[in-house]
Amino acid sequence: MRIILIGPPGAGKGTQCQRLVELLRVPHLSTGEMLRAEVKSRTPAGLEAAAFMEQGQLVPDPIIVGMVSRRLQAPDCRRGCLLDGFPRTLPQAETLDDLLERRAMSVDGVIELAVPRDELVRRMLTRGREDDDPAVFAQRIASFELQTAPLLDYYANQGKLASIDGLGTAEQIFDRVKVAVKRFEHAARIR
Ligand code: AP5
Ligand code: MG
Repeated sequence: MRIILIGPPGAGKGTQCQRLVELLRVPHLSTGEMLRAEVKSRTPAGLEAAAFMEQGQLVPDPIIVGMVSRRLQAPDCRRGCLLDGFPRTLPQAETLDDLLERRAMSVDGVIELAVPRDELVRRMLTRGREDDDPAVFAQRIASFELQTAPLLDYYANQGKLASIDGLGTAEQIFDRVKVAVKRFEHAARIR
């Protein structure tokens, strides 16, 4: 299964992926986590990315695409993967389709975690990651709405989108996620 999780900052993408890893036994690819590792190691990509991340802006596509395409070629991704925070722009989504198509693979399903803004802000305030500063967080939400939300139509038009209410306990949300995954598995079987 190749599943994408889409949602605004703080929607619970990482939290649900941790649970999905146990269920599906496929690797969790979080571009945010990969970038934070690059920043920490002070690689050229990390140094370039940091300036964008600090401001809540999206990191330029070439950095992201290079990073993800290398990771997708690793043997552990052959059976599938969970994509958390990628793609985030239409060009990234089209590039992903190309990358997978070349390996006779495709995206099986996309889960949208929908959470109202006041709850996102509440979660951000209780976490305190470096980019969880209120002004930066507002920009991260704006980047999501402007650049990433259009992807929902892109995947809905392909019949691959499952929109899930992201309010409730992590366990309640995971129950909804599992229903979506069952649907994706069924669709993959009849394809
Ligand atoms: P990224 O790391 O992806 O951050 P994000 O999208 O802003 O999302 P978060 O990680 O903050 O939230 P999440 O949805 O994973 O929620 P979580 O489970 O942690 O990206 C960071 C930056 O990297 C971007 O701003 C951009 O600059 C760059 N970047 C990354 N990918 C990129 C790309 N493809 N292209 C360009 N740039 C890119 O939960 C949040 C908090 O809420 C946690 O404390 C959690 O414990 C809590 N929580 C979770 N679920 C619940 C619940 N049900 N109830 C209560 N609390 C909950
Ligand atoms: Mg995350």
